[in-house]
Amino acid sequence: MALYLITGIGGFIGSSIARALLSRGEAVRGLDNFSTGNKNNLAEIAARIEVHEADITDLDAMHRACKGVDFVLHQAAIPSVPKSVLDPLGSNEANVDGTVNVLVAARDAKVKRVVYAASSSAYGDTPTLPKHEGMKPDPISPYAVAKLASEHYMVSFFRCYGLETVCLRYFNIFGPRQDPSSPYSGVLAKFITQMLKGEQPTIFGDGEQSRDFTYIDNAVNANLLACKADASKAAGEVFNVATGRRVTLNETFKALQPLTSYSGQLKYGPARGGDVKHSLADVSKAEAGLGYRPSIDFEEGLRRTVEWYRKEIVADPVLT
Ligand code: UD1
Repeated sequence: MALYLITGIGGFIGSSIARALLSRGEAVRGLDNFSTGNKNNLAEIAARIEVHEADITDLDAMHRACKGVDFVLHQAAIPSVPKSVLDPLGSNEANVDGTVNVLVAARDAKVKRVVYAASSSAYGDTPTLPKHEGMKPDPISPYAVAKLASEHYMVSFFRCYGLETVCLRYFNIFGPRQDPSSPYSGVLAKFITQMLKGEQPTIFGDGEQSRDFTYIDNAVNANLLACKADASKAAGEVFNVATGRRVTLNETFKALQPLTSYSGQLKYGPARGGDVKHSLADVSKAEAGLGYRPSIDFEEGLRRTVEWYRKEIVADPVLT
């Protein structure tokens, strides 16, 4: 049994990784300041995990959290493009300073490996599709810059201190427990809950922008593989985590109509600042280096996610 520290354990990705690790008999410690994370996401596993309520920018707290840890899965972040456009300093503090603290504490505690939740936003709006890891990054938003800077810190800690790091560039992860309630929430969490409640969703722009929407189980699996992959293939490396297929927002709305029984229309609003037009991943490097293969496709992921939110809304109709 190994001990895993998950930063951002209260988030939908962090809590999903925690459940997967527990089901494999591993020991889990989590750290979260619960600013965007939610204790409800941990309700059914609370008795089986140790949680440090602290901020990743608190180095002492990070040192305490890393004690005796084998693997760190660094998921904590302020995960929003538009929020970073409004508050670049806040984004930088959480998404860059926080990461350096995690790395320093992991290095000092002699952690075996740190796996980092990097972002597809690093690629920016370059016209070449699909995006592969050899391409020159071209981040647009402060969020994207912060996530890319943290990737460089990961690689730097491998090169300078020999701390094994693996960066996973997530492409629009979605699934149960993603918070739909903030204006900065991921589009699928918003659209699904709005449509289930009969509310009209808004597409920012013409709806022809596309994303490689990736179901949560694929991201969880990538994290587990990244911990165990051969260091000669994975340490100090960056990998796309996605499905290798893109869907437009207009198509997404159409796919959700029958699943949510929504018979209304949608609205179109102004395009969002900092948005990229198209996002699609080449996942062959993750396949070769980590043994990663997306196992749940977009349609199946949508079905599972809609079913989860349907039950939540029945249980708690004020969920927004
Ligand atoms: C970006 C990153 C992703 C990162 C995420 C963190 C890219 C390609 N992806 O996702 O890696 O994990 O930030 O937040 O940069 N939209 C609407 N209506 C809404 C909400 C959103 O039309 O109510 C649109 C957005 O304008 C955007 C698309 O849906 O075009 C997806 O938005 P969102 O879910 O916020 O994710 P990204 O910004 O693509």
